[in-house]
Amino acid sequence: MCLLIITFMLVSLGKTATSVTQNNVLFIIVDDLRHLSKETINLPNIQSIAKSGVYFNNAFSQQALCAPSRNSMLTGRRPDTLRLYDFSSYWRDTVGNFTTLPQFFKENGYETYSVGKVFHPGPSSNFNDDYPLSWTHFPYHPSTDKYKDAAVCRDTTSKKLQKNLICPIDIFNQPEKTLPDLETLEYATNILSNRNSSTPFFLAVGFHKPHIPLKFPKQYLEKIPINKVKPPKHPNMPHNLPLVAWHPWTDIRKRDDIARLNISFPLGLMPSEWSLKIRQSYYAAASYVDDLIGALLSFVDRRKTIVVLTSDHGWSLGENGLWAKYSNFDVALKVPLIFSAPGIARSIVHAPVELVDIFPTLVDLSGIANNISKCRNNEKSLLCFEGKSLKLLMIEGSQKPGNYLAFSQYPRPSAYPQNKSDKPRLKNIKIMGYSVRTKRFRYTEWVSFNNKLFTIDWNIIYGLELYDHIIDSEESNNLYLVHKYKNIKQYLSGLLRAHFNRKNTHLY
Ligand SMILES: *[C@@H]1O[C@H](CO)[C@@H](O)[C@H](O)[C@H]1NC(C)=O
Ligand SMILES: *[C@@H]1O[C@H](CO)[C@@H](O)[C@H](O)[C@H]1NC(C)=O
Ligand SMILES: *[C@@H]1O[C@H](CO)[C@@H](O)[C@H](O)[C@H]1NC(C)=O
Ligand SMILES: *[C@@H]1O[C@H](CO)[C@@H](O)[C@H](O)[C@H]1NC(C)=O
Ligand SMILES: *[C@@H]1O[C@H](CO)[C@@H](O)[C@H](O)[C@H]1NC(C)=O
Repeated sequence: MCLLIITFMLVSLGKTATSVTQNNVLFIIVDDLRHLSKETINLPNIQSIAKSGVYFNNAFSQQALCAPSRNSMLTGRRPDTLRLYDFSSYWRDTVGNFTTLPQFFKENGYETYSVGKVFHPGPSSNFNDDYPLSWTHFPYHPSTDKYKDAAVCRDTTSKKLQKNLICPIDIFNQPEKTLPDLETLEYATNILSNRNSSTPFFLAVGFHKPHIPLKFPKQYLEKIPINKVKPPKHPNMPHNLPLVAWHPWTDIRKRDDIARLNISFPLGLMPSEWSLKIRQSYYAAASYVDDLIGALLSFVDRRKTIVVLTSDHGWSLGENGLWAKYSNFDVALKVPLIFSAPGIARSIVHAPVELVDIFPTLVDLSGIANNISKCRNNEKSLLCFEGKSLKLLMIEGSQKPGNYLAFSQYPRPSAYPQNKSDKPRLKNIKIMGYSVRTKRFRYTEWVSFNNKLFTIDWNIIYGLELYDHIIDSEESNNLYLVHKYKNIKQYLSGLLRAHFNRKNTHLY
């Protein structure tokens, strides 16, 4: 109790201070980094930010795909509001001229910078990362981005250069003798060391790894000995899984090293030896990014800077036979989320929170505005929030009661897995999987979705799933038909439908 009061006083003092000099914001976004426990892999630099701030160990993305998740996070609106489930539309053209997170800071006197992958590049950010509305300076992308899919991985058996999934490399043999994330780090640290302006900054730094291909300096593989890598507890497709929940991970299958394994399409499984090798390389790639984050932080004055670290979504590493993102499972949706801010004491928050909460939380922490308004039905306002500020939760931590929920969704073109199931284009979407996560349960309904009217028919159901995290943390046992869960199932269905129905009444 005493500790809480002191914390609260510190925070209040911090707030008074911010009205004189505003804190900077460093927003670190790692591509496809799932939530990883300390028992799985040691990421000392990320852990060190967590130790100096608030670590949310149940943070969930709104959709396990880059562009919809990033646009949702950066506008504070859900995919249904943005009507973006693929890569092909820009919210300002299609739904509303909504203010973004960096734009909010820019309009409030900050210099804003985008370095690396922050918005998903391409049509969903107007081919210019939403410049100049979001950014003071032209967004930076590394020149070696163009070799992203080049055949640069030396195959261990044939010695040929290939487009492999697993791709430990020697930097000096790479085009331009560097890698995109090293260029991003250099550019960001140059900004931090050469800025001589007294205006506060909002610097967003987006690292590409551990997104596939798993290309990283080969010494990182030695940090993760293969005999220490554990297989998933449930490597097979669960017998009670509705097939609509499965996706065929085609981007993994088509890499040269994996294609050679002739895994049957769409339900075939990764051979267990390769499961371990992919896990090892994913951890190695995460460890590489962790080092870059450590280097970046050494250039930051933490007394004047709010540091946020997260990812766009998670990544399945063979759990239930699945790989990559593209689903509504915890492994695909759960991400690290850390806020480290002057005056906010260290804590761990277990309540489920969402990436749409980041925008209102940063507005709240910055002290720029204290009227953080929720979007109402038919809200056309350019600045309102579908998430909530997590500031109180940070201060009161697990003491704060309340029914916290995280909502997510994933589209499908058909109930049976096909090539387009991983990343359906809007015109092919026929089904939407809506999902809610409570502290204990995950509940999902796969229902009919109209891709022209953006309406849901809750009566046409393609699959239902209920997982109890107390007994099944890998979500491998669908309890939907188990009688004793009847009431909880009904309750969660009510919550889910009420939530997404409300969203669906948005009219523009
Ligand atoms: C969108 O908002 C920005 C910033 O307020 C403004 O400059 C721009 O003209 C608006 N665009 C449209 C199409 O209304
Ligand atoms: C730093 O200040 C000097 C002198 O005012 C100016 O010429 C220079 O461009 C500034 N550098 C940056 C990175 O803003
Ligand atoms: C995969 O199929 C090709 C062509 O049918 C064959 O040559 C190769 O040996 C197969 N590889 C494995 C690992 O089964
Ligand atoms: C707070 O209110 C002011 C004045 O009505 C408005 O300009 C601003 O956009 C609001 N800020 C937020 C975060 O809602
Ligand atoms: C789907 O992908 C599989 C495996 O990559 C391929 O063999 C098949 O031809 C594809 N089918 C269609 C309709 O594109």
